[in-house]
Amino acid sequence: MPQQTFVIDRYDPVEDRAYEQEFSVDYEAGETVLDCLNMIRWDQDGTLSLRMSCRHAICGSCAIKINGRSGLACQTQVPAAAERGNPIHIGPQGNQTVIKDLVVDTDKFMRQFDRAQTWLKPFEGQEPPAREYRQDKDDFDHWQHASTCIHCGACYSDCTVASVDPKFLGPAALAKAYRFVMDSRDSQRQERLEKLSRMEGGIWDCTRCFMCVEACPKDVLPMDAIMELRTEAIKAGVTNNHGSRHSKAFAGGVKKRGRLDEATLPILSAGVRPGAIPEMLGYTPGAIRLLKSRKLLVAARRHGASKEGKQQIKRIFDEVEDAKHHHDVNRAAFSTHYAEALEG
Ligand code: SF4
Ligand code: SF4
Ligand code: FES
Repeated sequence: MPQQTFVIDRYDPVEDRAYEQEFSVDYEAGETVLDCLNMIRWDQDGTLSLRMSCRHAICGSCAIKINGRSGLACQTQVPAAAERGNPIHIGPQGNQTVIKDLVVDTDKFMRQFDRAQTWLKPFEGQEPPAREYRQDKDDFDHWQHASTCIHCGACYSDCTVASVDPKFLGPAALAKAYRFVMDSRDSQRQERLEKLSRMEGGIWDCTRCFMCVEACPKDVLPMDAIMELRTEAIKAGVTNNHGSRHSKAFAGGVKKRGRLDEATLPILSAGVRPGAIPEMLGYTPGAIRLLKSRKLLVAARRHGASKEGKQQIKRIFDEVEDAKHHHDVNRAAFSTHYAEALEG
């Protein structure tokens, strides 16, 4: 029987003491990290605290950090975890307060769903259907990936923005918001897009780091959902906000000059509106640092595109702009998965 060593981050709230503890367990092929943690609890140290329920990647309660990356303990095979680091380091989820050992306070994560108002708001005065409010299959294909979330928090735990900004709605709540923006039975599509674009911690605060996509055990594709929300917001005319202006200025500068124009980007991002001047003044210390370090000049020289380079960049823009909206690409992919699932 193979043996595996685990190093577990422990936290004792009574003594307010954090420490690491090493355990070794014999396991059988097919057993998961959760099975091993349970063997440790049952046979070696009954004080080790963790959350679990279904043991089948359904309830979402066993999400922890395994060798630094968040995931479900009940879905992670021991050899697969050991491949990423041996002994296997186990810790509680990130971006949330630890209550004891591997148990975190999920309140901050769960409150984001409230802030994003992730529930259906039906049309008023609508005659209720005889059986149920049905969703058209084509519409469902747009957001079915976002409906598979089990609220495990793995994405939020690894989110690089949530780690510095407690107001960021985070990947799971935004993916859920996307689900309601795209649901044709919901009456608040425009209001939702406006709120999600303008609120603190909304769709424009994501840095597209991909961590949520990698952590998610259910292929919810939270980052893709956030990018779709940005596209839907711009298509719906919700452009009077910093994120939308920044995105337009960023792409416009690269398309026109063949390089990112860091000098005009803050001005175009701030826009012409009350409040733009204080915003731009806020950039002054950063701009002075860039000038002093000659970073602006070095960046201009290094990234300045040649004539051929500019043509190449223009060709990329033309191709992307001509291509079908990536919404439709996802739609095709999800239709295939859906058809396969139905056949299965
Ligand atoms: S892609 Fe965005 S939402 Fe996802 S982890 Fe990164 S910053 Fe967070
Ligand atoms: S989006 Fe994925 S990782 Fe995030 S809470 Fe939902 S299931 Fe978990
Ligand atoms: S115990 Fe339910 S998801 Fe792991």
